[in-house]
Amino acid sequence: MKVIVFEDMHAVDRFVVQRIKEVIESKSCPVIGFATGSTPQGVYNGLIQKYQKGEVSFRQVKAFNLDEYVGLSKDHPRSFAKAMWETLFSKLDIEEENIYALNGVADNMEQECQRYEKLIQENPIDLQLLGIGMDGHIAYNEPGTSFDEGCHVTNLHKESIESSLGYGFDHLEEVPRQGVTQGISTIMQARELIMIAKGEKKAKLVQRMVKGKVSEDFPSSIIQNHNQVLVVLDQEAASHLEEEDYERH
Ligand code: GLP
Repeated sequence: MKVIVFEDMHAVDRFVVQRIKEVIESKSCPVIGFATGSTPQGVYNGLIQKYQKGEVSFRQVKAFNLDEYVGLSKDHPRSFAKAMWETLFSKLDIEEENIYALNGVADNMEQECQRYEKLIQENPIDLQLLGIGMDGHIAYNEPGTSFDEGCHVTNLHKESIESSLGYGFDHLEEVPRQGVTQGISTIMQARELIMIAKGEKKAKLVQRMVKGKVSEDFPSSIIQNHNQVLVVLDQEAASHLEEEDYERH
């Protein structure tokens, strides 16, 4: 695992944008996994700018979303599918039919999970972006989730429900209690992972993810076992690591 630290979040964003561009340019049909949450928004703005300047095209890109709230359709203003559409996909030249997401309002969620898992097997993800949740989750793999799980429905933990207030919900009661998510085993099959963390509030979580025991109690620790993973941090998020734990850029 390689951990790199930048002076500020803008330098983090520039680095990740450049890496995504490289992956897109190195493949005839690149498959990118996108995360929601506040952390990657600067990266998405950077990708939009690059596209607008004609420096990158998403015409051949297939995009896979990580997770969704159960009970929210892709057109619901608080769904992750809608958030990805509004903040990124609608501003790029990506073909709509190449955007894939879990359907939070499918009649049969088990079948929906199998459908999505199969789609990902058929379109292996070249680069998966990740963020870390306040309870150590990745996507919506909450603490205690088996590392062997594929796509599945999950009961959201208290920290995840509370964090959702940052995603446009006004009251806790409005936040769905379940999520549907790519599993750890799904995520670990991606060829490359980029985990981004920013800010002091992520510092202790980052320390445990990078240096703690790999354990289902702290799902993001699994990335230590991936053979092509970059952890990209700003100084604040790296503040609980030792200097020998990372490269400074
Ligand atoms: C959310 C999402 C994750 C995201 C993570 C971090 O709940 N389910 O996909 O990566 O938590 O969110 P943030 O970047 O807002 O801290």
